[in-house]
Amino acid sequence: MVRKKTCVLKVAIVLSLLFCSTVAKSQNEELSKEERLEWFKDAKLGIFIHWGIYSVNGIDESWSFFNKYISHQDYMNQLDGFTAKKYDPEYWAKLIKESGAKYTVITAKHHDGVALWNSKQGDLNTVKQAKAKKDVLTPFVNAARKEKLKVGLYYSLLDWSYPDYPNFLRDKKRYTDDAKRWKKFTKFNFGQIEELTNYNPDLYWFDGDWEQSAEQWKAKGIRELLLDKTPTTIINSRLQGYGDYATPEQGVPITKPKNNYWELCMTMNNSWGYQPNDKEYKSVNQLIRILVDCISMGGNLLLDIGPKPDGTIPQEQIDILKGIGDWTSKHKEAIYGTRAGIPHGHFNGYTALSKGKNILYLYVDNEPNGPLLIKGLKNKVNRMWVVGNGTKLSYNIVGKQYWSSVPGLLYIDVPKEVQDKDVTVIAILLDGEVDLYREEGQKIESN
Ligand code: GLC
Repeated sequence: MVRKKTCVLKVAIVLSLLFCSTVAKSQNEELSKEERLEWFKDAKLGIFIHWGIYSVNGIDESWSFFNKYISHQDYMNQLDGFTAKKYDPEYWAKLIKESGAKYTVITAKHHDGVALWNSKQGDLNTVKQAKAKKDVLTPFVNAARKEKLKVGLYYSLLDWSYPDYPNFLRDKKRYTDDAKRWKKFTKFNFGQIEELTNYNPDLYWFDGDWEQSAEQWKAKGIRELLLDKTPTTIINSRLQGYGDYATPEQGVPITKPKNNYWELCMTMNNSWGYQPNDKEYKSVNQLIRILVDCISMGGNLLLDIGPKPDGTIPQEQIDILKGIGDWTSKHKEAIYGTRAGIPHGHFNGYTALSKGKNILYLYVDNEPNGPLLIKGLKNKVNRMWVVGNGTKLSYNIVGKQYWSSVPGLLYIDVPKEVQDKDVTVIAILLDGEVDLYREEGQKIESN
């Protein structure tokens, strides 16, 4: 009798827990995080676009007035040089597609407060105040969608130009404690964010959250608003704890980030926006290796371009996008939909796994002076080939002892003719999910 009662109780608890969790979710998160972020996990390459009036003088986006390298007035004078005269959003989208990127994120509004769309909240936008006199955001969103790219909108929570936002310059605040003015700003901020929800972005890329707390931003409310409007959308981490995925910046992580979902955002040279003096571009080879580094840790690379004020993309950046595209188009199967590779120590280089974990990809970013080596692989190899070329490779296993559980050394020959000029990729089809020997070795006890 007692047993029956506890059993009924248990069922009731489970049912009510189930009910609660579906209620909590169905209010604005109908899809699980895994479902929403699946495309992102598979995407691997995205292109970031920093386009704004800072391209006119070729100076740091927003920071140049905040850090007082230029006065706010002079910074804003750049509005007169932002013409967008040769802006061709279809070409941008095609070029991004050609690079092999699956998504793109554009600065709808940077910290300087200049909106690229015709915001009804105030006048500081490219339609009402820039020489261009047009909405440059909407045509890009449409063009990117036509190319089947996922679209992300970058939005700076902080707005150093808004008269009721507290922070203005590094050493000058408009006010410290003024609930009324802050309320005015929050209303404006929500107004702009609401306008952006009309684009139904696949991704929101917030920035500038460091200046206020989650409560002040009303971060929870922002998240709810976005997911209510677009239940499939995803949000980067810069929303004071209310985002979905991590966004390390510039430095490639050394260890795999703890958040299963992450993206490294990085500049091609040392600037986010167009700065003609900055010629320190990373080479295509370096960028491909950085991409592979991210892939091997289960992440994405969000690589930035900075178009000119007339809307053209600097030639160096076009060349880089095309160069990366040559490599990605050849190596699709070892890029999209892959998962982080095997732990270090088994192979001297980057690795990744297929979703089913039965294909191991090796990325060879240098010229080997002998056969490649894999240690500790317990699986049988079914087949091995060069990605993008199909050539079957021969291999041999050395040093396997019948009495020991330590796998033998697997040597793979990679002839020069099949090597890629940047990163050669080798696919190894295993007899099942990858299975690795992770122990300290064994000594003989009987023979
Ligand atoms: C930083 C900077 C900003 C840049 C962003 C890109 O947060 O404030 O200027 O747009 O990084 O990740």
